[in-house]
Amino acid sequence: MTSAMHRIKPSLFRTFAKPAAELDLSLFDPLRVYSNPELSTEVRPTYIDNFATTPLDPRVLKSMLPFLTDHFGNAAAVSNAFGQYAHTVVEQARDTIRRFVGGQTDGTVLFTSGATESNNLAIRGIAEFWADVGRHIVTTQIEHKSVLEPCRWLERHGYSVTYVPVSKEGMVDPDDVIRSIREDTILVSVMLANNEVGTIQPLKEIGRQTRERGMLFHSDATQGLGKTEFDAQLMFVDLVSLSAHKLYGPKGVGALYVAAPDASNILAPQTMGGYQEWGLRSGTHNVPGIVGLARACELFGQEGAKERQRIRELRDALRSALERTIDGVRINGSLAAAIPGALNLSIAGIRSSALLERIPEIGISSAAACGGKSGESHVLAAMRLPIAQIRSALRFGIGRFNTEEDVEYVTQRVESVVRWIRSQKAFGTA
Ligand SMILES: Cc1ncc(COP(=O)(O)O)c(C=O)c1O
Repeated sequence: MTSAMHRIKPSLFRTFAKPAAELDLSLFDPLRVYSNPELSTEVRPTYIDNFATTPLDPRVLKSMLPFLTDHFGNAAAVSNAFGQYAHTVVEQARDTIRRFVGGQTDGTVLFTSGATESNNLAIRGIAEFWADVGRHIVTTQIEHKSVLEPCRWLERHGYSVTYVPVSKEGMVDPDDVIRSIREDTILVSVMLANNEVGTIQPLKEIGRQTRERGMLFHSDATQGLGKTEFDAQLMFVDLVSLSAHKLYGPKGVGALYVAAPDASNILAPQTMGGYQEWGLRSGTHNVPGIVGLARACELFGQEGAKERQRIRELRDALRSALERTIDGVRINGSLAAAIPGALNLSIAGIRSSALLERIPEIGISSAAACGGKSGESHVLAAMRLPIAQIRSALRFGIGRFNTEEDVEYVTQRVESVVRWIRSQKAFGTA
């Protein structure tokens, strides 16, 4: 590894100032940018950010391809065989997804463009439908912004929302959630696994109580499905949001499971004008995406348990290697309570932005990809971590296609950049 590598700030970081149309795309291609002769040939693009998105599994791609070519019919235009074929595969996919989330046989799966839309539909849809019954929602401080922002929007429109705090490990206490319930509470929304620290939340304990008290329980299960045990019926969850691109499926497709034969008795539509999805989510079905989502779920059903074990071992190996080679590593959250691939840590005195810009060939992040411009994690802030620890937080997300070699490479690169930054600081040049 040459020391020149640490001095180079790849030009892609400077190009963001230009309009997108003027950018040279090759600067962003991880497979090409490192052919820069100043960089060591040892550099190899390594993706280890599976919380942001996951690569498409080739088996999922294979299932989708016929629906991008020969079987292009519109699933809602069933007056001909083209449409009927598409309609049938969409119905089969619905069934696969319903079983994947442990939904009841007469539950409804609504297809959406992803978990952001599913969360918006669940929260705003329920708030609108039940406005005459109550206008209070309970959620947590560590939800994804696609839960928090609709809640904030509702607060500006006559609703009130309780944002339950979490422990220093990033866990919500079920008793705190239950204590927040009021006479006028219509919905409780708690995520399955957090997208920054990976902590798995106690849904069953919460669900049992919400069911007894008669309000709806929604879970944004986007990051936890397939990575930890989940069963909507056993956990008393009435609505479940999911997204294909966190499950080695395609981007731009997701679903909302609703535990009711007729979801229009629970939700008000938020997208209108096409009558698809029983009028609850209008718009032509993304048939290839839906087929891919179902195949992705099926693969988790078949291989999930084994995969979790392998990923946990890789995660533990990465953690040990980083702790062994770098001083001042602190784990954020609780690995014992997290999904297997999650590793969020801070390195004392090293701002994550300074580190990340020197290892652009490694796909890791400092906070959630959709964390907004401030860049500082609302999740780590809710865990009351000191600001310096938040600013040096790194989120690794080990996934299906990571290997021992990736762990070795990432450790070596992170360690060498940390050493370099610390040496610059010691000489007063950083
Ligand atoms: C917990 C969680 N919820 C929702 C989303 C949004 O998912 P999508 O990208 O499918 O809109 C994400 C994506 O990062 C997430 O991590």
